[in-house]
Amino acid sequence: MNKTEFHTTLSRMFRARIPFIVINSMERARVLDTISVLADEIVIPIYVHSLSHGTQDINAKRTLNEDKSVIGGLDYGIQQMSQRQNLTFVFTEVSDLGDDNMVARHFYDGVIQAIERGGSICVITNNPVWQQIQRMGMAIKLDTPDEDEMFEVVRESVMPYLGSIPIEWGEPEYRSAAQILSNMSKVEAENVLATIMAKGTLTVEDLGELSMHKDKLFSDISGLEKVKIEPNTLTVAGLEGMRKWLDEQRVLMTADLRERKLRPPRGVLLVGVPGCGKSLSAKFIAASWNLPLYRLDLASIQGQYLGQSEGRLKDAFTSADNASPCVLWIDEVEKGLAGAGGSGDGGTSTRMVGQFLFWLQESRYRVFVVATANDVSKLPPELLRRGRFDEIFFVDLPGEEERKDIISLYINKNLLTPPSMECLSQIVKSSDGFSGADLESAVRDVAIKAVIHGDSIVSDELYIRCFTNVIPLSKTSPERIEAIRAWGRERAVMASGVSWNSGNPTEKPGKRILI
Ligand SMILES: Nc1ncnc2c1ncn2[C@@H]1O[C@H](COP(=O)(O)OP(=O)(O)O)[C@@H](O)[C@H]1O
Ligand SMILES: [Mg+2]
Repeated sequence: MNKTEFHTTLSRMFRARIPFIVINSMERARVLDTISVLADEIVIPIYVHSLSHGTQDINAKRTLNEDKSVIGGLDYGIQQMSQRQNLTFVFTEVSDLGDDNMVARHFYDGVIQAIERGGSICVITNNPVWQQIQRMGMAIKLDTPDEDEMFEVVRESVMPYLGSIPIEWGEPEYRSAAQILSNMSKVEAENVLATIMAKGTLTVEDLGELSMHKDKLFSDISGLEKVKIEPNTLTVAGLEGMRKWLDEQRVLMTADLRERKLRPPRGVLLVGVPGCGKSLSAKFIAASWNLPLYRLDLASIQGQYLGQSEGRLKDAFTSADNASPCVLWIDEVEKGLAGAGGSGDGGTSTRMVGQFLFWLQESRYRVFVVATANDVSKLPPELLRRGRFDEIFFVDLPGEEERKDIISLYINKNLLTPPSMECLSQIVKSSDGFSGADLESAVRDVAIKAVIHGDSIVSDELYIRCFTNVIPLSKTSPERIEAIRAWGRERAVMASGVSWNSGNPTEKPGKRILI
């Protein structure tokens, strides 16, 4: 439960004089904060035992018993309870309550005393507790700070530095930082923030560094592969319609949607011709949104071990939820789910599709899924129904304008000598049917020649020759490409933003035809 719920529930337990309370949390200080407030609110004496201070009054911080051992603290508690009603003792460092041992037996005696005298013994621990004692009490769990609490943690960490170092953060950055830091403990979050501010400034770019720190914490996430991206090297040319749509989703990804009862965006399915920028777009989204990118390899999850796939997939989704906000990239989703509906794999694929759809529907975490597919005919139709993904885009072979953008992009990147304007428009025209990857490889051929023979040999003629030498996929497997295009034109929104018939950019991505 979150801090507010924890506060309310623990308050009730204290008032009800529950004799034994196990508080599940790794965050001792945060639990004690709440207990300290409760001590004032309901005006009851509460004593806290720790190995460093012995037993102290929680708010007066007066040491009442010097004995620092757990047994010593417990003996003191039992003795005090025999003299006064309604005392509460909190133990913060008990290591072995898991089974029938000496310490556990001692606690058992303490709880018996508490029952008789309206006392209460609390233990803050993340370890299991011996059944025999647990049955006499109740357990309560404090989760790591949620976004609202983390927002306060961020603000309180930054406040003391205002005026002493340059700080570019305002409310929106506090909110983003809170989202990134969620699922960390309060202390971890404070440490990360302090480390970042120790360099003497706090800039908007530091939000990226926060993500990095979080990645480290979640670095061995199961079933997911962290994909390293270098934001500055990633550029997508064309695909304007999709990019416009993504800009809107980005706003939704960071906005506080709870009041409106909206769920965060779930993601997008990109289908289309191989080599036209689907995988590239997945990386581009993560890079431009400043979010970590995790790749889920369904084929490897399906693995050799029959019956384990579902468990592993569940772990992967839980990990993605924990790593949120993030982008979850499922590349060539049709390969991982091939066989769904069939009987070849004992129904594993079908169950995985079901599990995937369930998670997509139910998860409320900010995990933006980017799934890509080349061959739509192999995709289970459930995946294409409305409401699964927020949008399905068709990534087609680039049109004339897009080819010009892609060619220019790679010429700028790879070459010192651009072609003449006439030559450029000639290669743009003659490269009809080329994919983005084909265009890139033609430019790369020119660049390789430039490296080998020197830049002076780069000429219009060389450009034209290198472009003529490339044989695009649309020439080598025309039927395959045509089948993909026929499906996409009919069923999905054009990622280019150019509607199929007119060839003109439309205001908005075109209308989707219901499937
Ligand atoms: N629209 C584009 N803008 C820039 N580069 C592109 C574009 N489309 C394809 N490319 C180049 O082709 C390569 C292969 O594209 P990729 O995204 O892997 O294709 P696929 O659609 O098959 O996933 C990319 O890494 C990139 O270098
Ligand atoms: Mg790809």
